[in-house]
Amino acid sequence: MARHLITSALPYINGIKHLGNLVGSQLPADLYARYLRARGHEVMFICATDEHGTPAELAAAKTGEAVADYCARMHGVQTALADGFGLSFDHYGRSSSDRNRRLTQHFAGRLADQGYIREVVEKQIYSHADGRFLPDRYIEGTCPNCGYDKARGDQCENCTKQLDPTDLIDPRSAISGSTDLEVRETKHLYLRQSALKGDIAAWIDAKADWPILTTSIARKWLNDGDGLQDRGITRDLDWGVPVKRGDADWPGMEGKVFYVWFDAPIEYIAATAEWADAEGLDDNAWRRWWRLDEGAEDVTYTQFMGKDNVPFHTLSFPATLIGSGEPWKMVDYIKSFNYLNYQGGQFSTSQGRGVFMDHALDILPADYWRWWLLSHAPESGDSEFTWENFQQSVNKDLADVLGNFVSRITKFCRSKFGEVVPEASAYGPEEQALIQALTTRIRAYEGYMEAMEVRKAASELRAIWVLGNEYLQSAAPWTVFKTEPERAAMQVRMGLNLVRLYAILSAPFIPFASRAMLEGMAVSDASWPADVPAALSALPAGHAFTVPEVLFAKISDDDRVEWEQRFSGTRA
Ligand code: 2FM
Ligand code: ZN
Repeated sequence: MARHLITSALPYINGIKHLGNLVGSQLPADLYARYLRARGHEVMFICATDEHGTPAELAAAKTGEAVADYCARMHGVQTALADGFGLSFDHYGRSSSDRNRRLTQHFAGRLADQGYIREVVEKQIYSHADGRFLPDRYIEGTCPNCGYDKARGDQCENCTKQLDPTDLIDPRSAISGSTDLEVRETKHLYLRQSALKGDIAAWIDAKADWPILTTSIARKWLNDGDGLQDRGITRDLDWGVPVKRGDADWPGMEGKVFYVWFDAPIEYIAATAEWADAEGLDDNAWRRWWRLDEGAEDVTYTQFMGKDNVPFHTLSFPATLIGSGEPWKMVDYIKSFNYLNYQGGQFSTSQGRGVFMDHALDILPADYWRWWLLSHAPESGDSEFTWENFQQSVNKDLADVLGNFVSRITKFCRSKFGEVVPEASAYGPEEQALIQALTTRIRAYEGYMEAMEVRKAASELRAIWVLGNEYLQSAAPWTVFKTEPERAAMQVRMGLNLVRLYAILSAPFIPFASRAMLEGMAVSDASWPADVPAALSALPAGHAFTVPEVLFAKISDDDRVEWEQRFSGTRA
């Protein structure tokens, strides 16, 4: 038994996430957490909403809510959706929590004490009408390069040229449209990442087992151009963690907050503290996961994220942890994902293109989505959601293979022997061969799950389901029953035990269907099948069950066509 800390990238608070977001971090993290728990490990699975920054402020302004109220409400919405998808977080925290405020200020204080912070006076654009400094991308104007009139202060979308806000011709506020702008001096804190470059490079070099997608992105940022740049970690905003040096005020930094990307990863730690608080536990309960000097030496820490998040997790957050000079637990393995596309284009939050978490659950149960998304996870390259492929996978894998198996064997038993496992002789040679084949595949499945090879694990699980179908097809208890009812009883006993086995093995992928199967089979011991022959005799003669409801309904062509149309355009 080992101890596993698992974090999923924190979803931004503004708006509901689409299925591409879900499959890029939270869902595979959940798969892994569920698997490790099922194998008897101690797991701490943490996620939270990422609540600070300008996008949250603007989203709140749009709905007319105070930003704190907006975040509290949206946290509730995202929590309900996470529950709906069966995401089994030990805690779903909030980066605006008091714990994160204190911890973020603590890290800033430590970094300053260690000499890793410098103060920089910058010129920034202040908008009188908005009463605030404007982040670069909230300044619009005409591109000096191509003449595009909606270029942003950080980049022109039309010609892709990187810009400074002061490059723009006729600049205006993207928030209010006001042109009453002024360049003002303002002081900010910079984290001296350049001074930590050697430490970070050595740390990355030691990660020989990381996937290439992860290390290549990290190395590119580490070595390209000027190498690791110092990074501004404060902003002139109202909404965020107030800048302090530990508990003390920071002279000259009054009214400023930390940059959202500085406080967000610290929330991984803070959310674990929030968990301890919610459980009524003391500080050691969370520190034993995070502090090497307080019990975390034997923790394995795995992070899940989309590839765009990799630089922050391989460079910036490690710089915070290393620079603190304190013995914090650092990530052991980063599992990163490519993008999921939607019907020949991209999922787009701004254009409402694609399927979002709330709409997905409105039309189908979570397991249908979980299965498709995980079995098509964008691991080795980008992957694509199409309604046709979704319909095919669900109808074949879930309805025809697994669902049909469960329904056939339980109904056949009910009709011939009643809803009880029949008395029967020992398994024969066909059953022994099946047990052999299952054992091989189950061990392979375990290997893929341990290695977080999500697609390979899914296809191994599917193959395990197929073995059951093939067995039932060739054993044909419905024919055998006519001449050898006792042998048919033995085959049925095998079939019913397979339902139990499948429920246990499939739980990380399709937890809701798994629960329905376990409840139907009245399983009291759902422990992992370390010993496959024993697991296939777990339900003894005389054990009562009830035929489960239909596990998976097929998706009709009409449904598919209707949904394809409904989700093509702008999100309602
Ligand atoms: O890209 C995103 O969605 C960010 N909100 C991820 C943050 S991960 C962590 F560092 F907090
Ligand atoms: Zn341009």
